[in-house]
Amino acid sequence: MAEDPAKLTAHGKDFDFPVLKGSVGPDVIDIRKLYAQTDMFTFDPGFTSTASCESALTYIDGDEGVLLHRGYPIGQLAESSNFMEVSYLLLNGELPSAKELAAFSSTISRHTMLHEQLMSFYKGFRRDAHPMAIMCGVVGALSAFYHDSTDISDPVHRRISSHRLIAKMPTIAAAAYKYSVGQPFMYPDNRLSYTGNFLRMTFGVPAEEYDLHPAVEKAMDRIFILHADHEQNASTSTVRLAGSSGANPFACIAAGIACLWGPAHGGANEAALNMLREIGTPDKIPHYIERAKDKNDPFRLMGFGHRVYKNYDPRATVMQKTVREVFEALNVSDPVFETALRLEELALNDDYFIEKKLFPNVDFYSGVILSAIGFPTTMFTVLFALARTVGWVAQWNEMISDPGQKIGRPRQLYTGPTQRDYVPVETR
Ligand code: CMC
Repeated sequence: MAEDPAKLTAHGKDFDFPVLKGSVGPDVIDIRKLYAQTDMFTFDPGFTSTASCESALTYIDGDEGVLLHRGYPIGQLAESSNFMEVSYLLLNGELPSAKELAAFSSTISRHTMLHEQLMSFYKGFRRDAHPMAIMCGVVGALSAFYHDSTDISDPVHRRISSHRLIAKMPTIAAAAYKYSVGQPFMYPDNRLSYTGNFLRMTFGVPAEEYDLHPAVEKAMDRIFILHADHEQNASTSTVRLAGSSGANPFACIAAGIACLWGPAHGGANEAALNMLREIGTPDKIPHYIERAKDKNDPFRLMGFGHRVYKNYDPRATVMQKTVREVFEALNVSDPVFETALRLEELALNDDYFIEKKLFPNVDFYSGVILSAIGFPTTMFTVLFALARTVGWVAQWNEMISDPGQKIGRPRQLYTGPTQRDYVPVETR
């Protein structure tokens, strides 16, 4: 705890509130007794100044453009680690030994299959359903199939459901894609890596051997690492809030997926590539920049700006580098990448974006890579959900294991009518 309490004068009285210190980052004022002591609430829609929980998972310094998982910089993890190792790190707090990593990867690979009846669930959806709509439904349905891991008070149940969610998400996501293109579902092949398996289930067909491209597998794995966790963002907070009531983890992750879908959050990767394609050629960029600055136009530069980063998103730096690697490996190019680079350059030199500290975020370049690999735009947010599942699960476990955990229940500033008497319809 910091030494000096924060002082508040309200209703003519002075109150002291403890100031808590984290291991790094801003101090927080502990206002848990505020209502009891002052008879007042705080007002913070959008939680711009509110720490909703204590967490030891991920740290972001938005001014400096720093992102750490359990203390390790995202750039180092993206360069040298792999998604299974990062998943272990997020769940357990430390990097695994070689033996621990092998055991963890093996456990995850043993949970990749879906209950066969769950596979028939897909047939209830329209073929043209958005794969995120399918994800919300199928992941929500997992709790109807895996009853033996929904007792959240049992740490073994919690561990198994966590492993199941991480393991089954690639199978669920790939099946959503297969259903939309009318191809047969692919069963997992557990000899492959987590990411290799996902690519094969997505792009492979039963009639042929799937040729896994090592550079694509590496790029995809890196993209998963970049999306693995991101502190208390909207979908993670949704998972925590849903979980705070004691709801089972499958239901909580389905809630997270629903929240992620929005264009201000995970849906921005789909929106960003659609925007870049709409812009088309670099000469049209100034027109779109002017639109983004116009308060009367709802258009925003998708893949730009962030609630926390007021500097370059460190994930975007890695993404931009990965675009070049994938293009080189596949011997392809996409004019949309040139448009993106030019848009970034013009926006970063424009007073509006400089003053508001708007920089490219993780979603700005990811679509260019995913499109080169062969994913349709509708799958982009699904891939985000797949990777973020490990973060959601780790955050959910951290919350449930906290002995001081309470149901999340914000209050409000009520501005509706005060009490009045009911009037029968015939006299209204
Ligand atoms: N284009 C144009 N203006 C923008 C943009 C943008 N992309 N982002 C923010 N602004 C302006 C905004 O109009 C506001 O101006 P003013 O102060 O004059 O009203 C100011 O910058 C602050 O924006 P805000 O909306 O109050 O900030 P926020 O923290 O509530 O929103 C955001 C953050 C990410 C929702 C927003 O920047 C945005 O809508 N960006 C585009 C969508 C996007 O790329 N989302 C992905 C986020 S990263 C991945 C993830 O976490 O899911």
